[in-house]
Amino acid sequence: MTVINNATLKSVIITGGNTGLGYQCAYNIALSSQDWHIIIACRDPEKGIEAVNRLKTETRNNNISTMELDLASLSCVRKFVTVFSTAGLPQLQAIVCNAGLQIINGTTYTSDGFEMTFGVNHLGHFLLVNLLLKVMSAPGRIVFVSSGTHDPQQVTGMPSSVYVNAHKLAYPDTEVSDESAALIGRRRYSTSKLCNIYCTYELACRIQKETGRNITANAFDPGLMPGTGLARQVNPVVFFVWKYIMPVMTLLPINAHTTKKSGKALAALVINPELSTVTGKYFEGLKEIKSSVQSYNRENAKDLWKTSVNLVKLSRDETILSL
Ligand SMILES: NC(=O)c1ccc[n+]([C@@H]2O[C@H](COP(=O)([O-])OP(=O)(O)OC[C@H]3O[C@@H](n4cnc5c(N)ncnc54)[C@H](OP(=O)(O)O)[C@@H]3O)[C@@H](O)[C@H]2O)c1
Repeated sequence: MTVINNATLKSVIITGGNTGLGYQCAYNIALSSQDWHIIIACRDPEKGIEAVNRLKTETRNNNISTMELDLASLSCVRKFVTVFSTAGLPQLQAIVCNAGLQIINGTTYTSDGFEMTFGVNHLGHFLLVNLLLKVMSAPGRIVFVSSGTHDPQQVTGMPSSVYVNAHKLAYPDTEVSDESAALIGRRRYSTSKLCNIYCTYELACRIQKETGRNITANAFDPGLMPGTGLARQVNPVVFFVWKYIMPVMTLLPINAHTTKKSGKALAALVINPELSTVTGKYFEGLKEIKSSVQSYNRENAKDLWKTSVNLVKLSRDETILSL
């Protein structure tokens, strides 16, 4: 990795920035100013290099690099932060927790034994952000990519999120059930997106109360973005429909958008000066709205935080926040 030594630059880390929404977010930040150094944090180094080369060509911004990050491995998350912290990169001023997956073919586990959807979409990001807070500069911004599917009141075609406690999400009951693997997997997905919001609100609150630093944390719903890799596990016919037919929905006046449009909105949460002190909020695209009723349940948010601290074995010296 190239060592950059420019005090005027600031770094932004985008997880899953190699493709889909994350790529478009990186593209828009890179276009906005040469002052940003963009780090594409991605699990496959080859895909990372390809994305960096493409972004450099498309934006004529050379301040873009990639670092390996597999959110399904806590040791990989810790290694990523160690490498980042010692790489001589510009000061960290933004983190976009964008990477995410949906598993519909049965239960799989992270290398630490957590259910994969919860492990990657929530736990990996939870650890990453806590560790990075130690090296983050103010003003700073943290954005979690959630989804309207977290909200049972919204018609999204997804099963409602169900939060009982975080322990059950990490170690779900896998006894034979009448429900299909697809239904169970989709519910895990919508619930993980609810966890992203609990985590955002709890984080925003803790940063404000415990540090007084201007580091904001907000959650973002990009809307339905048909065609992305999120539906990679569906059968080939459904994938064809997702990739080539459903994108027509982005022409309708509904919450469905191209990755280009949603990526621009996500980038705005990082770069729009008007949002420099806005924290603990939920955005549907560019619009600040209320998240689901359930997402304001403080007890659930606290349970998620406490349990996550234990699950990732976060130690007192690894974060600036109370455990
Ligand atoms: N598409 C939609 O309709 C929609 C709607 C609402 C919200 N969202 C959210 O938008 C975000 C981006 O999704 P997308 O639609 O752009 O999907 P995508 O094209 O599949 O991109 C997902 C990204 O996450 C990365 N990723 C998956 N598992 C990972 C892991 N273990 N460690 C590190 N990175 C990992 C993927 O890496 P690889 O390229 O290596 O697989 C990819 O870069 C997700 O959080 C998703 O929940 C999507």
